[in-house]
Amino acid sequence: MEDETTEGRNRSRLAILELANMISVPMSLNAIVRLNVPDAIWQGGANTPLSAPQIIAKIFPSGGGDPENLQRILRMLTSYDVFSEHLDTDTTERKYSLTEIGKTLVTDADGLSYASYVLQHHQEALMRAWPLVHEAVVDPKSEPFVKANGEPAYSYYGKKPEMNGLMQKAMSGVSVPFMKAILEGYEGFNGVGRLVDVGGSAGDCLRMILQKNPNIRQGINFDLPEVVAKAPEILGVTHVGGDMFKSIPEGDAVFMKWVLTTWTDDECKLIMRNCWKALPAGGKLIACGPVLPKESDDSHRTRALLEGDIFVMTIYRAKGKHRTEEEFNELGLSAGFPHFRAFHFDYFYTVLEFQK
Ligand SMILES: C[S@@+](CC[C@H](N)C(=O)[O-])C[C@H]1O[C@@H](n2cnc3c(N)ncnc32)[C@H](O)[C@@H]1O
Repeated sequence: MEDETTEGRNRSRLAILELANMISVPMSLNAIVRLNVPDAIWQGGANTPLSAPQIIAKIFPSGGGDPENLQRILRMLTSYDVFSEHLDTDTTERKYSLTEIGKTLVTDADGLSYASYVLQHHQEALMRAWPLVHEAVVDPKSEPFVKANGEPAYSYYGKKPEMNGLMQKAMSGVSVPFMKAILEGYEGFNGVGRLVDVGGSAGDCLRMILQKNPNIRQGINFDLPEVVAKAPEILGVTHVGGDMFKSIPEGDAVFMKWVLTTWTDDECKLIMRNCWKALPAGGKLIACGPVLPKESDDSHRTRALLEGDIFVMTIYRAKGKHRTEEEFNELGLSAGFPHFRAFHFDYFYTVLEFQK
């Protein structure tokens, strides 16, 4: 029998209970986004600490809402550094402002934030897949998402305009801040006249790359036909619908962000081979994506990358995956790219250059 009085056992009982109740964290995050709490606190930059009744008054101006339950959610998310708690020890009143993490959920002047990504990940169709994660081990031939919804995620989104729209908004919300960060330091677009963005969604990445690199005269935003059909007009950008597994429009360089992760090794080789065919000798495929460290540890970075890996397995492709730098290099070699370099500007996405 284990001695349950030791410090180690005491800590382990606590840790397993924390893990077993972890679902409260993302679902509460989803709740505060659905309730528009971050924008209600932010108030155009004021970020003045507000009590739960004050927040309730802002999000339900016509009345209603339960401040006590909102406060329970705010307290829990304070422990994950989404909110700062300001406790008046005399009155025991609690007020909340946004931390740097909380601020990522505030809608910016272009209507974007990380809030859409939170909402996108917790839609009903995706949630139906999560109790089936073990099925990815039992039978990896079809994804938990397919088992739950009867078809793959992208074709499912394609038939539901509201899901497609949310997906585009989520991608823009996550990608715009990342692009701002890498475009400050990355010089790999120098000398490129025609750039193709494969799986470019609404075209935000391309718009930003073109703004920063006037040498690029022509941008091709290439994505599924139903996706580019909804993309806005962007100066210098032509939206082209198609299937990257069949062929990719030609360019001096190909950009591809957050695409390879979704697919199996064989599928990645096919996509990368189509990129290779679209490029001149010496041309570059510039891919950005999550890259796993070799070793597993409990850092935020490793956790965020490994958690994203399980998301891919559950929703997109049971054998699609996050990969290490070495695995990407191998994929590049097998698709015909002899040169490989990795650039680290961001903790989540690595810039990977494959040169023909
Ligand atoms: C995770 S999103 C990344 C979007 C964008 N690159 C970004 O990082 O913001 C993957 C993109 O691949 C596109 N996609 C999926 N299958 C595709 C296919 N067969 N051909 C072209 N694009 C595809 C999706 O529509 C989606 O826009």
